Amino acid sequence: MKAHARKHAEATEPHPEAARKQAAQGKLLARERITAILDPDSFHEYDLFVEHKCSDFGMEKKQLPGDGVITGTGTILGHPVAIYAQDFTVAGGSLGLAHARKITKIMDHAIKLGIPLIGINDSGGARIQEGVNSLAGYGEIFYRNTLASGVIPQISIILGPCAGGAVYSPALTDFVFVVDKISKMFITGPEVIKTVLGEEISMEDLGGARVQAELSGNAHFYAQSEAECFEQVKRLVTYIPWNNRKRADAFAAQPPEAEALERIIPSESNRPYDVRDVLRSVCDGADFMEVQALWAANIVVGFARMNGRTVGMVANQPMVLAGVLDVDSSDKAARFIRFCDAFNIPLVTFVDLPGYLPGVDQEHAGVIRHGAKLLYAYSEATVPKITVILRKAYGGGYIAMCSRHLGADFVFAWPCAEIAVMGPEGAANIIFKGEIAAAADPEAFRKEKVKEYTDKFASPYVAAANGHVDAVIAPHQTRDFLLHALEISEHKTEERPARKHGVPPF
Ligand code: HXC
Repeated sequence: MKAHARKHAEATEPHPEAARKQAAQGKLLARERITAILDPDSFHEYDLFVEHKCSDFGMEKKQLPGDGVITGTGTILGHPVAIYAQDFTVAGGSLGLAHARKITKIMDHAIKLGIPLIGINDSGGARIQEGVNSLAGYGEIFYRNTLASGVIPQISIILGPCAGGAVYSPALTDFVFVVDKISKMFITGPEVIKTVLGEEISMEDLGGARVQAELSGNAHFYAQSEAECFEQVKRLVTYIPWNNRKRADAFAAQPPEAEALERIIPSESNRPYDVRDVLRSVCDGADFMEVQALWAANIVVGFARMNGRTVGMVANQPMVLAGVLDVDSSDKAARFIRFCDAFNIPLVTFVDLPGYLPGVDQEHAGVIRHGAKLLYAYSEATVPKITVILRKAYGGGYIAMCSRHLGADFVFAWPCAEIAVMGPEGAANIIFKGEIAAAADPEAFRKEKVKEYTDKFASPYVAAANGHVDAVIAPHQTRDFLLHALEISEHKTEERPARKHGVPPF
């Protein structure tokens, strides 16, 4: 027993100097991180004694405990997970073949057992001394990330550098968490950029946490500290199922204690408001977990519960760019919708937008291709899809935001909803262009036509008369209609034509 204890201690004791360096940067050690995320005493470690077997260039005398990565299984709030954490105190957490094979083994377990995978990344990237073997290791990880996609939830936590090809494993996973001042992600670092392009930039400004959460959209959750990040991970795990064959855990239903819906939306149709107040007013406990809150804020996506069951919510945000759809917001919503569909999470969509954002920048950035992702994602989804039109629903925006025509199961509209090809001003200007120009008082004539158009079309009743809207409901009825629709959709089935897979406009 003594020999075992000694061997165990040798394998788990961090090198004091490396541990001191880690602490000085405000970073926990790899084992401390795992313990902080998992339920107490639930971690079961495997492959502790796996060693680096090659005698590569410069590595002959190196001791690499666990080959720089810790792997195992445990639980989070009783929810089973497979987990790995790269150990920066061992060769900078660099990835060699034995290191990679420990990761791919725990990934294989996660896929077979049908449990989520959590990866904690803190690494200098491909282990330079191992040459092509370290590249092989990355490739084997990417391959499994792809096989696991849509089968088990995959979560990446970036808690240190994540450089080179290493960033592609997180990018292939479902959710990426970053921590201020600690996380750094980039394909090529500042040194290479300086050499190749002559541009100077710090690591933080190039690929720090804020950049990834706000500018690039590579990260889904941003925290100020590792402790806050772990709380976010634990909360997310409660909303998602173990795998694609299960539903997310059910919780006790909790009515919201939010302000009355009637008071949230201003009567003037162009005045902004925070759509998250609407979401909180209808979901259990007014508790909404927003995903990618800092990026493409003109659309809001996230998880909530209705009657104790997880739903994915998607909503235009009138507070940012009037809630228009553009390149980034289409990408953001489409990815979230595909996650929900893959993992049996019903979708509830709230609509209030003037349409797609016009402009040369957007056209040249590929708004056609990106916007099409949203059409594809909603049309492809077979989970229950329920839509509430709050206010404006014009043009392509109306169609794209989970309209009946893209397969919504239920579409409800508030009485103040405006559903038409375009807003009254634009419509009157186009239809009556000639008459306005010829009128004795063009402005008065134009205003009269705007009013006529508003009275006739800018309401939910034309859509309701055509069956495109199932019910015009008072705002205070929203939760009741949603709960009922979700309840009766519990066993929804929808067959699709057989195919290997679709070809979405990636
Ligand atoms: C081997 C590495 C390493 C690597 C760091 N180390 N990165 N060993 N291969 N890629 C080792 C260091 O030699 C050092 O060992 C220990 O880890 C700690 O590193 P430091 O440099 O002292 O730490 P720090 O100052 O905090 O800097 C961290 C760092 C820096 C920014 C990550 O180490 C760095 O720039 N590393 C190289 C990053 C890189 O270019 N990686 C390859 C990317 S290419 P000792 O023994 O001194 O403690 C790639 C291709 C993959 O990943 C493609 C897949 C498709």
